[in-house]
Amino acid sequence: MAQQTETGSGAPGGAGVTGNRISARIAAVSPSATLAVDAKAKALQAEGESVIGFGAGEPDFPTPEAIVEAAAAACRDPKNHRYSPTAGLPELRSAVAAKTARDSGYEVTAAQVLVTNGGKQAVANAFAALCDPGDEVLVPAPYWTTYPESIALAGGVPVVVATDASSGFRVTVDQLEAARTPATKVLLFVSPSNPTGAVYPRDEIEAIGRWAVDHGIWVVTDEIYEHLVYGVGHHSMPVVVPELADRCIVVNGVAKTYAMTGWRVGWMIGPTDVIVAATNLQSHETSNVANVSQRAALAAVTGDLSAVAMMREAFDRRRITMHRMLNEIDGVECLLPEGAFYAFPSVAGLYGRDLRGRTCHSSDELAELAIEEAKVAVVPGEAFGSPGYFRLSYALGDDDLVEGVTRLADLFGGG
Ligand SMILES: Cc1ncc(COP(=O)(O)O)c(C=O)c1O
Repeated sequence: MAQQTETGSGAPGGAGVTGNRISARIAAVSPSATLAVDAKAKALQAEGESVIGFGAGEPDFPTPEAIVEAAAAACRDPKNHRYSPTAGLPELRSAVAAKTARDSGYEVTAAQVLVTNGGKQAVANAFAALCDPGDEVLVPAPYWTTYPESIALAGGVPVVVATDASSGFRVTVDQLEAARTPATKVLLFVSPSNPTGAVYPRDEIEAIGRWAVDHGIWVVTDEIYEHLVYGVGHHSMPVVVPELADRCIVVNGVAKTYAMTGWRVGWMIGPTDVIVAATNLQSHETSNVANVSQRAALAAVTGDLSAVAMMREAFDRRRITMHRMLNEIDGVECLLPEGAFYAFPSVAGLYGRDLRGRTCHSSDELAELAIEEAKVAVVPGEAFGSPGYFRLSYALGDDDLVEGVTRLADLFGGG
């Protein structure tokens, strides 16, 4: 947040003679660091450089054929050429409710589902619907870059609760309790986590859910990586703690499970008063999600989970390779991620070393060095509120993965 403020001084179109051209609220929004890293890698590639990009948060597989076919058929049907209900196609809302019961055991009605432009809009809607100015939202760090921005845009105050590798990047009830104030309204919870790959076990989810119920705190729980877990289970907080349901919003979508990041379909599930309020907001912002994308999502959530099973197998293999190779680099330490498709190694051990004539004192500087010297794009921990780490996505081909980490090992002196 609060990175660049570009102000004008009474230029035409400004708010007044000395008015700021951009509102303070929007000027305080920083660009998405993860998208920026990806864009930089792609720009270098376009210039002919051989860049290995660990920045992107998306599966490297195409969307399954049956889903694409459903979308192609939807394109030809004129009923999809028109506006449709803001909250989503009725059949998709029902299918999301059914899919949720199937996959996590959470029983909800179609009226509790709002279809959004990706999980990202569900996050924004959730905080807009819940936060009054000054309401505090607890955000465990390392956090996905979008959460604090969405909270601040909604008028809420993100309160960061730091975790590190010593607790597996999982927040504890004691830490949450220490951060709680009379202004605390919401806890943001995500498991599996972007950026750390941490997955909370059932007992910890239960403890956190009970703490939220005891203190009347809302939980926004992001389940977008629910199917990408390796050897551990995924548990949905309102299933583990049913009493939470009246103060719980579940965020999810098709992006990661079905390799559909570009289709922009997500959803939020919550109590009907929150869903109605968020639908009213969305009716003035974006209206319905593109019908063709909704039809594709319908095919996805009513189909089987074979595509994600195949991707999970590939990600699991790459996860093991990446974890091993990163830990072989002197100065780099990496926990074994249990979910999503990110590794989050500590690189603080590289500070102060002579690396090809340069010395770095932050993960930001090290990431800059990696792209310049090794043509390897990683996202520095600063973007996730946790300096001293890199985030590397392992959603890329096995050969590229090995080549990229080998280049880092060469640069950092480990191989
Ligand atoms: C934790 C988390 N939640 C939500 C999203 C939103 O995904 P989308 O808007 O593509 O559905 C992402 C995407 O990177 C994510 O990592």
